[in-house]
Amino acid sequence: MKPILEVLSGRALAVPPVWFMRQAGRYLPEYRALRERAGSFLDLCFTPELAAEVTLQPIRRFGFDAAILFSDILVVPHALGRSVSFEAGEGPRLDPLDDAAKLNALAATADEKVFAPVYEAVRRVKRELSANLALLGFCGAPWTVATYMIAGRGTPDQAPARLMAYREPRAFGRMIEILVTVSSRYLVEQLRAGADAVQIFDTWAGVLPPAEFARWCIEPMRKIVANVRAEIPDARIIGFPRGAGASLDTYVNHVPVNALSIDWTAEPGFIRDKVQRKAAVQGNLDPLVLLAGGSALDRGIDEILENFSRGPFIFNLGHGILPETPIAHVEQTLRRIRSR
Ligand code: CP3
Repeated sequence: MKPILEVLSGRALAVPPVWFMRQAGRYLPEYRALRERAGSFLDLCFTPELAAEVTLQPIRRFGFDAAILFSDILVVPHALGRSVSFEAGEGPRLDPLDDAAKLNALAATADEKVFAPVYEAVRRVKRELSANLALLGFCGAPWTVATYMIAGRGTPDQAPARLMAYREPRAFGRMIEILVTVSSRYLVEQLRAGADAVQIFDTWAGVLPPAEFARWCIEPMRKIVANVRAEIPDARIIGFPRGAGASLDTYVNHVPVNALSIDWTAEPGFIRDKVQRKAAVQGNLDPLVLLAGGSALDRGIDEILENFSRGPFIFNLGHGILPETPIAHVEQTLRRIRSR
């Protein structure tokens, strides 16, 4: 069995499998070259041969244990008819949904044609990937996708979406339900096209008070997992509620994911006791430690292996790799993990 799938089935491996969030991206010169030729970022996502090529770039260079499909969480709002663009150096721009009337007018179904090239990219990667490597699909969690749809951009604390959820809970709830339905279908089709597992990114889970976290993160996630498993009973799912902290306990008790991806602020003893007994753990090197390199990196890697590798564990970062990260530091990390 592929090492990552063994871990997702609950086994501990002596040498943990490893991949990095955002492993295909701007820190790679071959990515920057292809990105320049592709035109817009969305053209890159929606051209299957290019998306497949970018997906495979970090695999060829480093030999990670998993490839993650090259795409973005914001293809879902795009399929819901929202305008989405990525300006160089500025991040995503969407047409903001900044009042209840706009939320209530949001289309309830996605244009499935938009997703077709994504599934085709999955099939292409699957054909080229060697048998021991896993292919991961993904989507954004409803809460995190909603934060970008409401603000129309990234913000430091996603205040616009939090305000909307407090002021207009019905309209906001309708939007979350739409995202649950569309995301569930999207993940099922990625799995049918050949993804071995899927990760659901809830990058902004950490900005909510516990009751709102339960309502807008846990509950929609629980529904997505149930919807996907209703169609694919053994679907393997990784959850990433970034910044959830002590609420990870509640999360793992209510959302039956195979693995929880944790950020670098998580307390190791708490994670072993409350999380790793119930699900595999993935994480959690600080991307800035990877950027720093040297003995800080060696120490960071060793601590993580000591903390988590006695249970089911996938080595990863605590969030996406930073564009300034030196290639040599990624090589150093893989060597160190695999030489134990
Ligand atoms: O992990 C991978 O290698 C697969 C590809 C992937 C991308 N985005 C490519 C991308 C994945 C899994 C994502 C997820 C994503 N996208 C998240 C969740 C994870 C996280 O990082 O928090 C979020 C919040 C987004 C939304 C998004 N897309 C933002 C905020 C930005 C701008 C910031 C940035 O890093 O540039 C993007 C753009 C984006 N998505 C790029 C890449 C490679 C850079 C675009 C470029 O090449 O110019």
